[in-house]
Amino acid sequence: MAASSSGDPRERVTSVAEVAEGLRAVGYLPGESTALVAYLATRLGKPILVEGPAGVGKTELAKALAAFLGRSLVRLQCYEGLDEAKALYEWNYRKQLLRIQAEADGAGWQQVQDDIFGEEFLLSRPLMTAIASEEPVVLLIDEIDKTDQEFEAMLLELLSDFQISIPELGRVEARTRPVVLLTSNNTRELTEALKRRCLYLWLDYPALEHELEIVKLHAPEIGGGVARKLVEIVAMVRELDLKKPPSIAESIDWARALLLLGADDIDGTTFSQTMSIIVKHRTDLDVVAERVGVKLGLAEGTLGASSA
Ligand SMILES: Nc1ncnc2c1ncn2[C@@H]1O[C@H](COP(=O)(O)OP(=O)(O)OP(=O)(O)O)[C@@H](O)[C@H]1O
Ligand SMILES: [Mg+2]
Repeated sequence: MAASSSGDPRERVTSVAEVAEGLRAVGYLPGESTALVAYLATRLGKPILVEGPAGVGKTELAKALAAFLGRSLVRLQCYEGLDEAKALYEWNYRKQLLRIQAEADGAGWQQVQDDIFGEEFLLSRPLMTAIASEEPVVLLIDEIDKTDQEFEAMLLELLSDFQISIPELGRVEARTRPVVLLTSNNTRELTEALKRRCLYLWLDYPALEHELEIVKLHAPEIGGGVARKLVEIVAMVRELDLKKPPSIAESIDWARALLLLGADDIDGTTFSQTMSIIVKHRTDLDVVAERVGVKLGLAEGTLGASSA
């Protein structure tokens, strides 16, 4: 494997505390296990599989890690039907055609063929870009659970050998080794083979104090009292049996909205006016209005008014 040696920032990371601090410095407040797993991944050269509910900072972790390590981020957004042509590489047919036309007279087929299957005619997609890069990158394979198992198998090969075989061209070996993060929302169980090759990080909704810190970071002007009440309410809402509990992203949105509205407290009225920022299903709105709204002193008659 041709991982670069001297210039690789991986070698500069020497402790979990350094990773934790580094992530904080770029605006990501990691939990304990996050910093630990990120540290191990950079040192062991193993991919991290990050799972957890929506909006808890999975994608953001990859961005923050790239910023902290001083690497560029190469992102592969997964979706159903994603294939090698979009993930690895593709031949640039148009350019090949042009070359064939240009060489139409004179050149023999063998020569044309040698020409058009050269690197110049390759369109490299994220996975290839990541391993072919001169400078080591952070590779984010986002929402891997959206692809099918065949794609996962292809990925396994890449993650274990760090090379790509192109039938017409031969093997393309990695120039540098990326730090790899895979994220999953758990919509399907990933294969054991994939899990075995990765370090595992489960990101859950954060503890109260942790979320408070995150909210204050993203909405610095918010008053301490409101912010605390906000995260307490969000935690309370998450306790309910909802279709879609609010995520960190929604706590942040709510804080920003309250700021814009100039709210210096979250009373029943403010809550009923703004709860659709954190709760986004009709049935959930009813449950929340009833269970949380009442606690906040929401007048009976206004229950559910915001959800109409
Ligand atoms: N630990 C954290 N420190 C700072 N900001 C955070 C943290 N966790 C989450 N956030 C913020 O929460 C928001 C949502 O994060 P992100 O988009 O990474 O979620 P996700 O887990 O990838 O969600 P999805 O599964 O929906 O893609 C972002 O704006 C991010 O900045
Ligand atoms: Mg994401």
